[in-house]
Amino acid sequence: MNRSGIEGYRAFLERRDGDADLMHRRLTSREEFFSALQADPVRSSYPIDRQLFLRNLRRRPEPRVDAKMLFLLATAKLNQAERFGVDLGDTYGHIGGEDQPPEQVYLALEEHYHTRLLAYVLEMFGLPFQVVVPPLVMRQFVKINVFLPERIGFGFVGAAEMAGCIMFDELRRVGVELFADEPDVAARIERLYTEILTDEIGHVGYCAARCTRPERMLMRWLYPRFGRLFARQTAEISLLVDREKLNARLDKPFDVEELTARLPNETFLAALP
Ligand SMILES: [Fe+2]
Ligand SMILES: [Fe+2]
Repeated sequence: MNRSGIEGYRAFLERRDGDADLMHRRLTSREEFFSALQADPVRSSYPIDRQLFLRNLRRRPEPRVDAKMLFLLATAKLNQAERFGVDLGDTYGHIGGEDQPPEQVYLALEEHYHTRLLAYVLEMFGLPFQVVVPPLVMRQFVKINVFLPERIGFGFVGAAEMAGCIMFDELRRVGVELFADEPDVAARIERLYTEILTDEIGHVGYCAARCTRPERMLMRWLYPRFGRLFARQTAEISLLVDREKLNARLDKPFDVEELTARLPNETFLAALP
C-alpha cells in the first residue's frame, strides 16, 4: 500500500501543483492560482484598528479584541509559526537535493506557499505581512520538527500535520461564519484556507505512508496532544473555538471524510494515519 500510495501521491502533486522550480521556490500551478487572486482583488469593509492588530501580534489578546480581530490575529500567528519553520528548514538545507524523493520538494514548496496564502487573508483587511517571532514554546516545537532525524521525524511531523489540519479546518469555519455579512470576503477566506487544508491532508497521508505501523501508532497518539498544544499556544484559537468541542474532536479518531466533505478540491491521502 505504501509504495503505490506514495506513487499515487506523486502523480497527484504533479496534477495539483504543476512543475516544481526549486531555485525560485515556485510551483507553476500555484503561481497561476495567485495571479487569478490578484486579478480579482477582494477588500473587506470591516473597519480595522491597525494599531490594535499590530500591538496584539506580539502578545496574548487584550480583552477588548473582538471575534473578527481574533480571527485575523490567529491567521497572522499561524502564519508566523509556518514561516519560522519553513525558513529554518530552508536555512538548514532541508529543501530539495539530488538525494531527496521528488515529492519532498513539492511538500517543502507547498509549505512555502502557506505563508503566502495566510498573508492574502490579511491583505483583504489592508494588514501587512510582518515578521514576528512565534512564542518560545512554538519555536521549540518547530525546531524539534525541523531537526529530528528523518526516521523518527515522519511520525512526529505527521502528528503536527494532523493537528494542523484541525486548526485550519476550525479557523476556516470560524472565518466564514464571522464574515458572513461580506460574502466575497467569506468566500475568499474559504478559498485560501481550503488550499492550505488540501495540502496538509496530503502531508498527513504522506507522513503516514512513510511510517511503520508502530510509528503510525505514535503519530495517532501525539496528534490530539499537539492539537491541544497549538490551541493553547495560539490563545486566539482557544477564544474562537469552543474548547469542549475542540477537545472532543481531537479525541475522536482522525476523520478524513469529515475534513474533505466540504472541500471542492481533489484531495489525496497516500495512507491512513
Ligand atoms: Fe503548512
Ligand atoms: Fe504541512
